[in-house]
Amino acid sequence: MAGTGLFAEILDGDVYKYYADGEWKKSSSAKTVAIINPTTRKTQYKVQACTQEEVNKVMESAKTAQKSWAKTPLWKRAELLHKAAAILKEHKAPIAECLVKEIAKPAKDAVTEVVRSGDLVSYTAEEGVRILGEGKFLVSDSFPGNERTKYCLTSKIPLGVILAIPPFNYPVNLAVSKIAPALIAGNSLVLKPPTQGAVSALHMVHCFHLAGFPKGLISCVTGKGSEIGDFLTMHPGVNCISFTGGDTGIAISKKAGMVPLQMELGGKDACIVLEDADLDLVAANIIKGGFSYSGQRCTAVKVVLVMESVADGCVFTKDVNKAILISDAMETGTVQINSAPARGPDHFPFQGLKDSGIGSQGVTNSINMMTKIKSTVINLPTPSYTMG
Ligand code: G3H
Repeated sequence: MAGTGLFAEILDGDVYKYYADGEWKKSSSAKTVAIINPTTRKTQYKVQACTQEEVNKVMESAKTAQKSWAKTPLWKRAELLHKAAAILKEHKAPIAECLVKEIAKPAKDAVTEVVRSGDLVSYTAEEGVRILGEGKFLVSDSFPGNERTKYCLTSKIPLGVILAIPPFNYPVNLAVSKIAPALIAGNSLVLKPPTQGAVSALHMVHCFHLAGFPKGLISCVTGKGSEIGDFLTMHPGVNCISFTGGDTGIAISKKAGMVPLQMELGGKDACIVLEDADLDLVAANIIKGGFSYSGQRCTAVKVVLVMESVADGCVFTKDVNKAILISDAMETGTVQINSAPARGPDHFPFQGLKDSGIGSQGVTNSINMMTKIKSTVINLPTPSYTMG
């Protein structure tokens, strides 16, 4: 059960603690934020209302912890992530229980979210070992006017402290989709969970705590957006923001300053139905795409455009050539052919255009986004050409 057994230490009376410096803590504010169960409309949980001073401390610890973490071998970072993934999946039941009570996610979907999250963490660990273990070697004589007197070695290095802000509808999955890439790449991570979904997120963070990550590397601060929202997103200690949500992301991007941003702000998700579509497939996907999880998905179908001749039934198409032509012509980040819109599987690139988002998600893209390139150039006294 949530808040019991292995999770008892994250709860103080009837208030969930926040996570900083490798410990579960009570806020000095002595204030709490209530989480309403959407089904009963009563207070289900309470979390700490953290203060700006506590955010400052978290940022300091995150900065210090990141310096050592960046020197932790890649295989070891991956090993810890695999451990966290296993703990997360082992404890899917209490976390799913929180998802049901906090955000009214259907019970089966709640379990799926946790299992999917564990798989995402493991996949990220494996992908990170592969892509971060490689760099580039460039020679200077490929550019006009140069002989081979310079060797350039490039590697991917961490950005520093990543601020992760996931939305209420996937408070576990869209948190780990930020946490795992940040950590494998050698960053530290500060999580600000949504209020509805905060307790699910705190349970998930405890799985990372139990896996044994160094103290200060991961923090989770809860509280009122009005008190710590802008303070977090404009904090000078933040080196990158990964946000999923709505228009708030546009406001954040205007205030954030010179830090890389990964923003997923939802979309319009139109379905286009051509004359030759399999109408049974279309109907099933539009219903699933529009109404699953009460339509509370950024990828939910919002608009259906149907060729008049099949308007009584409903899309897609069996003609792959037409599908590609339409896909190419559309100004959109992601096109699904013959299925409702979806983000997953979680390693697929997922992105929007214009106000729909900045950057691209998916495991590989998130790892790359949370790193920058460092070049080291070796200058030779005379040109040297490697012989076979
Ligand atoms: O709500 C936004 C999510 O990224 C949608 O994810 O397509 O897996 O439901 P999903």
